[in-house]
Amino acid sequence: MKAWVLQNFGLDNLKMVDVPVPEPGDNEVLIRVSAVSLNYRDKLIVEGLYNPELQFPMTQVADTAGVVVQTGKNVSRFQTGDRVITHYATRWVDGPPTVDEVVHTLGNTIPGGLAEYLGMDENAVVHAPDYLTDDEAATLPVAALTAWHALKEKGRLVSGQTVLIQGTGGVSIFALQMAMAFGAKVIVTSSNDEKLERARNLGANKTINYVRVPDWHTEVLKMTEQQGVDHILEVAAGKSLRQSIEAIKPTGQISVIGILDGVLSEIPIFRLLQKQASIVGLVTGSRKMFENMNAELSKIKLHPILDSVYSFEDARKAYDRLYKGAFGKIVIRVAD
Ligand SMILES: NC(=O)c1ccc[n+]([C@@H]2O[C@H](COP(=O)([O-])OP(=O)(O)OC[C@H]3O[C@@H](n4cnc5c(N)ncnc54)[C@H](OP(=O)(O)O)[C@@H]3O)[C@@H](O)[C@H]2O)c1
Repeated sequence: MKAWVLQNFGLDNLKMVDVPVPEPGDNEVLIRVSAVSLNYRDKLIVEGLYNPELQFPMTQVADTAGVVVQTGKNVSRFQTGDRVITHYATRWVDGPPTVDEVVHTLGNTIPGGLAEYLGMDENAVVHAPDYLTDDEAATLPVAALTAWHALKEKGRLVSGQTVLIQGTGGVSIFALQMAMAFGAKVIVTSSNDEKLERARNLGANKTINYVRVPDWHTEVLKMTEQQGVDHILEVAAGKSLRQSIEAIKPTGQISVIGILDGVLSEIPIFRLLQKQASIVGLVTGSRKMFENMNAELSKIKLHPILDSVYSFEDARKAYDRLYKGAFGKIVIRVAD
């Protein structure tokens, strides 16, 4: 079968090669891959920043949707013909995770889905929601689940609250869609006015260009009559976290998800105490959270926003798009 494997760090070392079709073990399903979606994390993997100890060659990409074509003899959760999606933190099923449960991921410690077939432990797979296409279903495992974990599982977001969403990438646009569906008011920041207009067209109440307005926290305070927001989706960290502490409402939650502005932050502890705010670190979610989210998405019929869809042969172009910064999700269709 064909697979895109990383042979060394650097995008020029991502190559389409022939590899054997995986033989499913007793507890595994063999998936014929339909589509995958890219995350910022796939860029970090290519650059050697996610896992400097990565073993080469490694088939790339975590988020995968497809159809079960073969089952191992102990498999009980799936049958041949089931439409499925992979779960990111492959060993985290439910409850609080151990460190090991959140680091064992596709395209990293086990082969990813950018290939014609993928073998997966049945515990690391969920049913795809019926109302979604395979392209749409492939976008859920990392970006949607992270937004859901932050806003709903940890954040307990309720109607009438205000959410600040940073940027317009995969996690952020899912967070915008979910926050609106839960009846929250949403402020979106972006470096790009066109993307801000698209965010407003999706329903964002207010927007701020964080390049033109580097002190965006003062703008957030103005927009909320100096009250601040109930929830912040912190995808930037670095210097941004200090601004988020200024922009959060007393007892609000800052969900620290990403590192787009840096991996180290200086925190004004006195302000944090005054605000009595929570700063919560998050890694995607458990399989149970994934199933909770899919049930809710199926009720509200939320359709992911696809920035672009590339063919399997054009996977390199999809990565180029990732490097530029997409609005929503980038999909690679592996098979129709
Ligand atoms: N903890 C987890 O489990 C988890 C899960 C998913 C993602 N992440 C992390 O979350 C971050 C976003 O991931 P993603 O996959 O959604 O990325 P993505 O789709 O590639 O989106 C990146 C977007 O972030 C925005 N951005 C960049 N620098 C920013 C800054 N300083 N302030 C505000 N926004 C900024 C830009 O939006 P504009 O073009 O609109 O400016 C950019 O297009 C990454 O750091 C990723 O590693 C973590």
